[in-house]
Amino acid sequence: MNKRPVTVPDILERKLSRKKITALTAYDYSFSKLLDATDLDIILVGDSLGMVSLGHENTLSVTLQNMIDHTRAVKQGAQRALVVGDMPFMSYQVSVEQAVSNAGRLIQEGGASAVKLEGRMADRVEAIVKAGIPVMGHIGLTPQSVHQFGGYKVQGKNYLDSRQIRQDAHDLQNAGIFSLVLEGIPGELAEEITAELKIPTIGIGAGTKCDGQILVLHDLLGINQDFVPKFVKQYAQLADSLKEAVGEYIQEVQDEVFPGQEHTYHSQKGNLKQVNDRD
Ligand code: KIV
Repeated sequence: MNKRPVTVPDILERKLSRKKITALTAYDYSFSKLLDATDLDIILVGDSLGMVSLGHENTLSVTLQNMIDHTRAVKQGAQRALVVGDMPFMSYQVSVEQAVSNAGRLIQEGGASAVKLEGRMADRVEAIVKAGIPVMGHIGLTPQSVHQFGGYKVQGKNYLDSRQIRQDAHDLQNAGIFSLVLEGIPGELAEEITAELKIPTIGIGAGTKCDGQILVLHDLLGINQDFVPKFVKQYAQLADSLKEAVGEYIQEVQDEVFPGQEHTYHSQKGNLKQVNDRD
């Protein structure tokens, strides 16, 4: 595979070419390597890591060190796709200086090519971009605000909220983001924002009209069976395949079918006999 690495200008160019941007999450080397061998544009090391890989209830207890470690693992598997590292809760909310410094760590220590942060954070974005770090925005149903929203509820359904989200999109664009994740908002609002912005939008639960789409990889693969939201399409049922494969393994070990001779190493002819003869 000798494909050119995807760059931030490539993503920006998609707004004009109208070729849809494709993005998925990954959290480790193995999945990253598999994704990188496809034509996927962006691998996001999302802070959904907290629920998917670390077993937390939400994203709020994910630390910057968690994100750095997993971003580094993903980067090692990705030579072609653009790797974006998510800034976890409280790694950019305290001050502009904190935001720039922690974004820098995701680039320097994690190896990300860009960072993503949630919410109405134009001043943070401006400063991070000034430091030379590309930023992806993320508005709508932003999971780090789950307590403020009172749950994972679709945002921007009423007129006032929809105007605020639209304004946030423009403010973030003016601050310098290169793309904007729109999560959990009505399709009509996402379409309006997408038509108005010069930078591409990437939707998740935001209808059909965004410039690209993103999903959590484990949702797409049908690994996560706890809850399947309306906006998710499962393209595989890996949980079922995994259970079937492991069930077969257990049975074959019990029945002494596995390992077979073809999985067994053998000593050189006579060697064991000589050892035994010495005993
Ligand atoms: O953390 C994440 O996985 C995300 C995407 C779902 C957009 O932010």
